[in-house]
Amino acid sequence: MRFILTGMVFAAVASAQQPPPTFYKEVLPILQSHCQECHRPGEIAPMALMTYEQTRPWAKAIKANVLSGKMPPWPADAHFGKFANDRSLTRPEIDTLAAWADSGAAEGRAKDAPPARTFVDGWNIPKPDMVVRMPEAFAVPAKGAVEYQYIVIPSGFTEDKWVQAIEVRPSNRAVVHHAVVFLREPGSRWLAGAKTGVPFAPEVSSAQERMMNTGGGGSDILTTYTPGMVPDQWQPGQARLIKAGTDFVFQIHYTANGTAGPDQTSMGLVFAKEPPKQRIVSVNAANRMFRIPAGDPDYSAQATYTVRAPMTLVNLFPHLHLRGKAFQYDVIYPDGRTDTILKVDKWDLNWQLSYTLAQPLTLEPGTRIRATAWWDNSANNPANPDPKAEVGWGEQSWEEMLVAFMNVAVDPNVSLRNGPR
Ligand code: HEC
Repeated sequence: MRFILTGMVFAAVASAQQPPPTFYKEVLPILQSHCQECHRPGEIAPMALMTYEQTRPWAKAIKANVLSGKMPPWPADAHFGKFANDRSLTRPEIDTLAAWADSGAAEGRAKDAPPARTFVDGWNIPKPDMVVRMPEAFAVPAKGAVEYQYIVIPSGFTEDKWVQAIEVRPSNRAVVHHAVVFLREPGSRWLAGAKTGVPFAPEVSSAQERMMNTGGGGSDILTTYTPGMVPDQWQPGQARLIKAGTDFVFQIHYTANGTAGPDQTSMGLVFAKEPPKQRIVSVNAANRMFRIPAGDPDYSAQATYTVRAPMTLVNLFPHLHLRGKAFQYDVIYPDGRTDTILKVDKWDLNWQLSYTLAQPLTLEPGTRIRATAWWDNSANNPANPDPKAEVGWGEQSWEEMLVAFMNVAVDPNVSLRNGPR
C-alpha cells in the first residue's frame, strides 16, 4: 500500500510540473505522422488538420476518436504481427492529444513547430512517371446496384517495365467502393474483343464465368484501391513487372450513394530506378464454397494457400464484405509450427487496409498460409443488410467473399506458371 501511495504522489507531482501540451510542440508532430495523409485538402477525410486554426475546433472530437481507437483507422489486433505501415498511435501519443484537449488546446509558440510535412500535390507516392487515366468517365447512378465495371486500357509499353510505386485515385471517391487493376498480358483471352477505354459490365453466361472475371481471368493483380489504404511502394530492389504489350484492366466496384455523378479514376506509376533483385507478384487463398446460415452471429470458414516455390511474404490484404467480423492469417510451417501473423478483430468494410510486414517472411515450399474468416450474420451486426438471408459468395456487398490476398517477392527469373499461383 505504501508503495502504491508513493507512486501516486510521484505521478501527481510529475503531471503538475509538466506544462500542458501545445499545438506546435507536441500535437503537430503527431498530426503530421499519423493524420495528415488523410486530413489534408483533397484527401479522404472531411476536414484538414494542417494548421492550428483548422485543428483547434476539433480538439474534443480528436480526443474522443483517438481514445475510442476509431482514429487513426487501423483495425489490426496489436497482439499479432508488426507492420511497417502501422499508423496506430502509442499510448503516450494518445495521452498527449487527450491532455491537449483537456487543457484548453493551447497554440504555443510557432517556433516550436516541426518543419511542415511535404506532400506531392495530389499523390501519396513520389511524383508518378506515368499517369494512366480512364479515357471516359463512368456515370454512376444515384441508386440501385451497379455491376462491376471493367475498363481496358492498353499500356502502350513496347518494352518490359518495372514499377516501384503505384497509386490509384478515383476522381469521385464517394462512389468508388474499391478498384482492382489487373495486368492482362499479351496472349490472354480474358475479355477478348472488349472495346478499349470504355467502361462496361461483361456479359456472362454462368456464375463460373462471373467469378472468373472477378478474379481477373488469371491475370496478375497490379494493385488494389480501397479508401484509406496506403498505396503500394516496394523496397529498393523490389518491383512489379509489367510486360511489353500489357493491357491494364481496371475493375471498379461503384456504389450508388444517393447522388449521381461521374468518376474518372487514374493510376500513377513510378518506375524502378534500378534493376530489380526481386519481383513482386500477388497470390491469394480464397474460399468460394461457404454458406453463412441466416442469423448466425459467429460463422467461420477457412482458405489455404500452399507455397510451392521459395518466396518472401511482403504484405497482406484480407477481404470480406458487410457481414465480416474478424480475419486471421496463420503461417503453418512444414515442421508443423504455427504463427498468427495478422488478426483483424474489428472488421469494418469502410477500412479495408493492406498490412505490410515489418519483417518480410521467407517461406519455404510446403509452408501453408491459412486464412480464417468470421462473419456476424445476426441482427446485432449494424452493417448486416439482411440477417434473414443465408449468404454465399458474390460480388456485391450484400453477398460475401473470403479472400486472403498476399503480395510476395520472388526471384525475377522464376517461372510463375507452377510457382506462386
Ligand atoms: C486513413 C485516413 C485517415 C487517417 C490516417 C486519419 N483519419 Fe480521421 N477521418 C478519416 C475519415 C475518412 C473520416 C470521416 C469518416 C469517419 O469518421 O469514418 C475521419 C474522421 C475523423 C474525425 C471525426 C470527424 C467528425 O465528423 O466527427 C476526427 C476527430 C478525426 N478523424 C481525427 C483524426 C486524427 C486525430 C487522426 C490522426 C491521429 C486521424 N483522424 C487519422 C480518415 C483518416
